Amino acid sequence: MYKLNFDTTEFLATQWQKKPMVLRQAFTDFVDPISADELAGLAMEEELASRVVLTQDEGKNWQVIQGPFEDYEQYGEDHWQLLVQAVNHWCPETQPLVEAFRFLPDWRFDDLMVSFATPEGGVGPHIDNYDVFIIQGEGRRRWRVGDLGEYRPRDGNPETPLIDDFEPIIDTILETGDILYIPPGFPHCGVTLTPAMSYSIGMRAPSQQELFSQVADYLLDNNQGQQRFESTSELVSPATISADQQHGIMALLTQLANNPAQYQTMLGLMLSQNRFDLDICEPDTPYTLEELHQELAGGTSLVRIGGLKVLQLESDQQQRLFVNGQIFELAATDADTISMLSNLTCLDNTQVMQLLAQPEVAQLLVDWVNAGFYYLFD
Ligand code: SIN
Ligand code: CO
Repeated sequence: MYKLNFDTTEFLATQWQKKPMVLRQAFTDFVDPISADELAGLAMEEELASRVVLTQDEGKNWQVIQGPFEDYEQYGEDHWQLLVQAVNHWCPETQPLVEAFRFLPDWRFDDLMVSFATPEGGVGPHIDNYDVFIIQGEGRRRWRVGDLGEYRPRDGNPETPLIDDFEPIIDTILETGDILYIPPGFPHCGVTLTPAMSYSIGMRAPSQQELFSQVADYLLDNNQGQQRFESTSELVSPATISADQQHGIMALLTQLANNPAQYQTMLGLMLSQNRFDLDICEPDTPYTLEELHQELAGGTSLVRIGGLKVLQLESDQQQRLFVNGQIFELAATDADTISMLSNLTCLDNTQVMQLLAQPEVAQLLVDWVNAGFYYLFD
């Protein structure tokens, strides 16, 4: 089990989305949930997004090679780092580490990126637009974090995600079990001292661009949002769009944004989707309710696949759950059961049996297992 050693309430009040900080020994006796060899193996699979970054020109330049990889021998003993996204989707052993960060809501959680770095390896100075907790596993790495500010792309190259060197406000060495928290916008750069495993928990929120594109898709898909601007008076200067009309036209958007019936479904659908592929594990033949009941009666648990988001909305006007961009209506189910279904990533056999006794929920579990969202675990 991975249990955080710091006061998360205080962290949320003083640091979260505000200030970077080092959380020394945030995990005591930290044990890597995955080995470097296992990570190297995952990066050989096409389904996973992986990259190797080579440090060149004495730490002044970096080259990125996209995976999947066949072997790593050519990269040698130092000056490189392997990074693999969404490892939590493919390696259930990493799930307990992710669970430690559920003091933040599931909708924000992006993925667990795991990296293996050799001495002098790193990705170079850059800025992320999400919050990240960098957990140091085996090995040691030096991290520098700068303040918020305007930073130029490295060497004036508009194509690069890297920035010029910056003045650090944190300059520290992370040891096994330490965490570095970095809010969006703070420049940072890690350099490896001894062969190291790092775990990045990324937390993201939608941008206006993403929201607008989602709203547009949702309205088009559902043939909604047909209302047009109407006015009772017109300004007489023929070439001018009056201030009233500007407000009135834009009010069509705020109307959508102020109406829960319009935005709740859209937000649930949007925020329950994952940016990275899931390891959907559909059974070879779909279960009937009776078959699933029989299978589970022997003491089996139901486990949610890594990364699947099962969300509910506070003050929702309907009883439902949003799962991976789909809606599951639960009109006849009580609120406690709905919360249990969304909050628990693993349903033990007692809970499963209790849920199967409710016909609407029993059918939901069959649908979820047949969709590959949950799997049976003895
Ligand atoms: C790294 O582990 O070097 C990359 C993580 C990050 O900078 O966000
Ligand atoms: Co970063």
